[in-house]
This record gives sequence, C-alpha cells and structure tokens, in this order.
Amino acid sequence: MLGELEKSEKAALSIAVGFLLFFFGLLVYAAKGMNIDVPTCITDVKPFTEGRVIQHSPDRYEVHYLAYMWAFDPMEIEVPKGATVDFYLTSKDVIHGMHIEKTNVNMMAIPGTVAYARYTFTKPGEYRVICHEYCGIGHQDMMAKIIVK
Ligand code: CUA
Repeated sequence: MLGELEKSEKAALSIAVGFLLFFFGLLVYAAKGMNIDVPTCITDVKPFTEGRVIQHSPDRYEVHYLAYMWAFDPMEIEVPKGATVDFYLTSKDVIHGMHIEKTNVNMMAIPGTVAYARYTFTKPGEYRVICHEYCGIGHQDMMAKIIVK
C-alpha cells in the first residue's frame, strides 16, 4: 500500500511513472511529427478478389492491392505528384508482405483480412512495391510498380 512505502520508494515510483509518461509522449510526438500512419487491420472492408484503382479526385486515389503467389494486382499504377493514396491490401493465398520503397508504407497481406495505409507521394519517380515476407519459390520476384509523374 502506498501509505506504507518508504519515501525513497515513493520517489522511485514517481520517477518511473514520469519516465513512462515522458516516453509515451515522445512516441506520440514522433508519430505526429514524422507523419507516421500506423497500418491498421480494418474490418469494415471485405477482402476483395481483384486489384482496383479508384480515382476520387485529381489528387485522391484508392488502390486495392491483391497479393498472390507471386505478384500484386494491379502490377503497375500511375498517380500524379502530390497524390494521396489510400492503400488496401489483402492476399488470395498465403501471407505476403508489402513495402513501397522510399516510403514508410509497410504492411502484411493476410488472407481474409484487409490492411490499410495512406501515403502522399510528394516526389516524382518510380516506386517498387516489394513482398518482404517469404512466400515460396517466386518470392524474390514478387513486386509491382508505382509511377509518380
Ligand atoms: Cu509474397 Cu514473398
């Protein structure tokens, strides 16, 4: 009980709690400051069976990536510089990974679930979409491409 603690124990507890709050604050600050979107496993989108690109406005896109052995559908997409893209990802067969190089988009493609991440492409160029979860003999060739114009 708190009342029976030594002064030094109380001090140690306060310091520990202080540190916890401080580091939690740092985490929140870093996530906000670096504009990190934590990938989420969402439940309100049903797993889909084919890839899709939907353009909502000149700079808003929605991409449904279907991962399968050993490719992504769609294989190649093109968006304008500055476009914000909502990525939805699922798998048709086994567990795959999906990393968009030069970005912080990094998700798992798990059959029966849909992962989500958002990214704004501020720099033009070619971005490879890479499977980073070993998924069989064709794993190292499993990639797609995003072209930002
Ligand atoms: Cu799919 Cu590795």
